[in-house]
Amino acid sequence: MDVLQKIKSAVDYIESKCSSIPQIGVILGSGLGGFTEEMSIEAEINYADIPNFPVSTVEGHSGKMLIGKMGGKQIVVLSGRFHYYEGYSTQEVVFPIRVLQKMGVHHLLITNAAGGTNTDFSVGDLMVIKDHISFAIVNPLIGKNIDELGTRFPDMSEPYSKKLISKAIQIAKQENFELKEGVYFGVTGPTFETRAEYKLIRLLGADAVGMSTVQEVITAVHAGMNVFAISVITDIGIREEENIISHKDVLDAANASAPKLTSLLKSMITSLDLAS
Ligand code: HPA
Repeated sequence: MDVLQKIKSAVDYIESKCSSIPQIGVILGSGLGGFTEEMSIEAEINYADIPNFPVSTVEGHSGKMLIGKMGGKQIVVLSGRFHYYEGYSTQEVVFPIRVLQKMGVHHLLITNAAGGTNTDFSVGDLMVIKDHISFAIVNPLIGKNIDELGTRFPDMSEPYSKKLISKAIQIAKQENFELKEGVYFGVTGPTFETRAEYKLIRLLGADAVGMSTVQEVITAVHAGMNVFAISVITDIGIREEENIISHKDVLDAANASAPKLTSLLKSMITSLDLAS
């Protein structure tokens, strides 16, 4: 089956389970599953039931698509994502983005957990991603371009929508919490970085480092979506001796910041102007 047919059969299945047509997509990263408690759910579909969808394996990712309403808008939530380090091909990692594209999603809000390399950051901070550096990550657009999905050489001068970034900053001011902004450095993982690597990443101009998001964003930009992405800073990479990072620490920190992030995303969705 070719990619377009694979996408179509996934979309047909999803559309047979719900009546609404969501224009906003949300991808939830590690430990952020609580977001879905804030939505009124119309359909909940296990990834395992969606034709051609890969299945999530990592702890903290439940692997479900939820369709419903939040803040008066129809949304589709990917609760659980596919990481390259799990052994999925690049095409599998970005398959859900293609499905969202064909479902008609125009705005994509992405969350992730990331290690801070900016020493002004603290664990628990939220960092709006204003740009990224893709390091040793296979570009998901390598291969024959499917013109129906996007152009051969997409511009990447502004992968993250300035409008959506301003909206987030404005909401954070109104809701009275601090929002950091910075550059996200994408790595494959699954190892956390060495001390020397964290320092290099900082030298290269990034404020945080993580194992997801970049391939999704490239695909979403190729698909013509307006993209917003935000990291929960779950550890500080530039670290002193004895400061070991574990997946549990990452999940705990992400869980602790989830209410703040949920509130921000909910306000963004509520105030989003879908015409622009
Ligand atoms: N490095 C890479 N990915 C991460 C980190 C980190 O320190 N923290 C959370 N995800």
